Amino acid sequence: MKFIKICFTLILFVQISFAQEKKLAATPPMGWMSWNIMSENPNEKDIKEMADAMVNSGMVQAGYQYIFLDDCWQGGRDNKNNIIADPKKFPSGIKALADYLHSIGMKLGIYSDAAPLTCGGYTASLNFEDQDAKTFASWGIDYLKYDYCNAPEDVETAKKRYGTIAQALRKSGRDIVLGICEWGPREPWNWGAQAGGQSWRTTYDIRDKWLDVEGQGGVGIYNVVDKMAGLASFSGPGKWNDGDMLVAGLHGTKGPSSAFKGVGCSQAEYQSQMSLYSMLNSPLYASCDIRKMDNEAKTIFTNEEIIALNQDILGKQAERKIKTDICDVFVRPLANGDFAIAVLNKSASAQNAKINFTELGLSGHYQIRDLWQHKIIGKNKMWSGEVKTHETKVFRLKKV
Ligand code: GLA
Repeated sequence: MKFIKICFTLILFVQISFAQEKKLAATPPMGWMSWNIMSENPNEKDIKEMADAMVNSGMVQAGYQYIFLDDCWQGGRDNKNNIIADPKKFPSGIKALADYLHSIGMKLGIYSDAAPLTCGGYTASLNFEDQDAKTFASWGIDYLKYDYCNAPEDVETAKKRYGTIAQALRKSGRDIVLGICEWGPREPWNWGAQAGGQSWRTTYDIRDKWLDVEGQGGVGIYNVVDKMAGLASFSGPGKWNDGDMLVAGLHGTKGPSSAFKGVGCSQAEYQSQMSLYSMLNSPLYASCDIRKMDNEAKTIFTNEEIIALNQDILGKQAERKIKTDICDVFVRPLANGDFAIAVLNKSASAQNAKINFTELGLSGHYQIRDLWQHKIIGKNKMWSGEVKTHETKVFRLKKV
């Protein structure tokens, strides 16, 4: 009897832990990140305005729930070594901000680093993991971006430091998603989920440009897509390849995204980033000033048919089935049995494309819905048409 009781308790425990793990980032987190627009000066006034703008623009309704408060919010530690916010930037404190965001249907992400100091030189969490995790939980934090500046280069230390903060978050009494941000050199897709992270950045910081041709450090949209395309097998519910910020709406005007010749992208390029990050299940986080966002950016961010791919509960990252000098074609299955395909024209001029679905492993005829035109464009076993330079066509295919 006692044995049965122990077994039952064990099963219950495993089920509870499983349910808890499953619930964390079951689909890719979506939101807005402060780093590009606010960099050194995130503050409660601007963040609240941004959150209100996200509600008013329909972004929250479309699924962008998080404000990801990035670096430079910290004001050191108090006399009990509790991490505190800069009182000038956050006079009401972070808890008040989290309460506000929760009251309008949003969530709050925060930022720290696996070293004594962050990338911006602010107080970070090494050796204070448990204490900081408890503080974050007491503030009502929902997500932690954990950076890796000022930390040793070897992979074993990285695994250990991410593992330590993940444990601390699990023990904190609150569900806090962990976003690993070590930029890719230690291949976090190999160990990030095991260390307890729900996502990992795959590259160095994205810039507001299509392609980095000079190898200066910041990467462009297609560099990220190309990298993530090879990492499909590592991605799934609760473990996402993270492509960094969406750059639509920036137009080369502001912030770190403009470094390394981030001079801005065409609308087609911004639309391609949204399309391909959705196909590849990257977390989606806008980075332009939502208060002044142009209509084109809003249209890109709030395309609910594209977002539905990113948030599909099957959580299967698209595979790149065709890669030539001119085009890439991606395919992914969806939870209801449909497939999504994306056709990217990488060349510098418009191209006429012809895609036989059998080449992609899809036999038979399909109803084809264009997810940017929002209409069914036919029933066929192939698609042909024009794709503009750096544009991505995205179709949802339903078997007929
Ligand atoms: C690193 C990260 C960026 C941003 C800055 C903040 O560069 O990769 O995304 O968080 O630090 O200092």
